This record gives sequence, structure tokens and C-alpha cells, in this order.
Amino acid sequence: MDRRNFLKVVAGATVIAVNPSLIRGNLYAADGALYQTYEKAQLVDAAGKPIKASALAKEVTYIFNYPYASTPCMLINLPQPTDKEVTLKSDSGETYVWKSGVGKERTIVSYVAICTHQMTHPTPNDSFIGYVPKAKKTMAYDKSGIIVCSSHLSAFDAGAGAKVLGGAATQPLASVVLEVAADDTIWAIGVLGQDKFHDYFKEFRPELKEFYGGPAEAKKLVSISAKTVKLTEYSKEIIQY
Ligand code: FES
Repeated sequence: MDRRNFLKVVAGATVIAVNPSLIRGNLYAADGALYQTYEKAQLVDAAGKPIKASALAKEVTYIFNYPYASTPCMLINLPQPTDKEVTLKSDSGETYVWKSGVGKERTIVSYVAICTHQMTHPTPNDSFIGYVPKAKKTMAYDKSGIIVCSSHLSAFDAGAGAKVLGGAATQPLASVVLEVAADDTIWAIGVLGQDKFHDYFKEFRPELKEFYGGPAEAKKLVSISAKTVKLTEYSKEIIQY
């Protein structure tokens, strides 16, 4: 691997640099879980071919399900390098540091596409959450190039760990920790921040049954690879305000 996301976890007054690849199991701060590794999964296209970091279209929202078969995540190649070492806080008061985007130009980011407000997320039917390219306008914020959940107009900073810029959400989207290998392939290795997976499985049982066959299938952990497609291919209807 030529690129690794070293994380800095703030636990009390101590800042610890952590290489996620070396973590097995959960990493806990003094007051709760901040980061969890899952089985490493390679991002592949609909035909099963590995996606190359340098081939990602700019400012397009891609979706892959990770770390569970039914939990959608966004992959975005931003037009400019992201911020670095962004300190974020979860609703439960945990502080953590989002390292940066990955790829040669530090432009590739990934976030769990389950809104931290009321868990709006893309389904095969529709999507209210996604990246708004710089050239488009949004009602959620005074500038674009951000992630917007159009359910209640929450805005998240795509280049700064999905920190909240405005709207009803009170904490960042959880981020997916990625690695880009020497051969330019992309791998998901864990989730950083407070995820909503437990509540999501509870709240959307009928929907998960409809699309995945049942709770057990929906909660199946992704392994080996994760199919990654454009949001416009993942959901039939895209709603963006
Ligand atoms: S569910 Fe996303 S803003 Fe309310």
C-alpha cells in the first residue's frame, strides 16, 4: 500500500496516532467507540472489475454497501484536495480526528450515506442524500461542493470529514476509512465516527426485507469486494434541493 490513513484518536488529553491496518477489533476512546475495523473490501464496478482511484469521475456520487450488505456509503472524488487533521465531535461527546482524503491528490473521500439526522439514505427507489457539485445550487447552504440531505436540508462538508455546515443534523456523517494501494485500487477498511447502523437496522426492517430479503441478509458483513456504482444507477430517482 502506498497510502495509509493514519488516524489520530483523542482520548482524554492524549492524542494517539493509529494505523487502521494494524488494528484488530474496536478502538475505544475514554468515553466510547470511535473507530471500528471491518473486513477489508475492494471497491469494484458492476462487472466485478477493480475500480482505480485515478479513474473516478470528479464530483460524482458513487455508492457501495459497506460494512454491511445493506448500509450504503458514498464515494466522491472532490475537485480539490481535502482539509487535513479535522477534529470532529459526535453527539455523544466523543472527539476524533478525520485524517484527510486519499489518492494522489488527497481528493477521494467516503462517508456512510445514512444521514445523522433521521437516517435518510439512498435506496433502489430513491435518494435524498448526495454530493452537490460546485456548479449546481443547493437550498441547504450558500455554496455547493458539499453533501446535502434534502429531507431537511442538512449540509455536510465533503472535504472536512463531513462536518455539519447547516440544517437539522447535529453530528458529522460517519466516514469510511479507505486505502489506495500501489496498483491504484481502492479498499474500504473501517468506519470512523458515530455510525447509526443499529438504529438503521431497527427502523427500516420492512424496507430491508423488501430489498435484501430479511434482517439476517441485511446485516451480513461485506467481505472481499463491494460493488460500487454511480448514485444515478443505484437509485431510480434522485431528489436534490
Ligand atoms: S434526515 Fe437528513 S436532514 Fe433530516
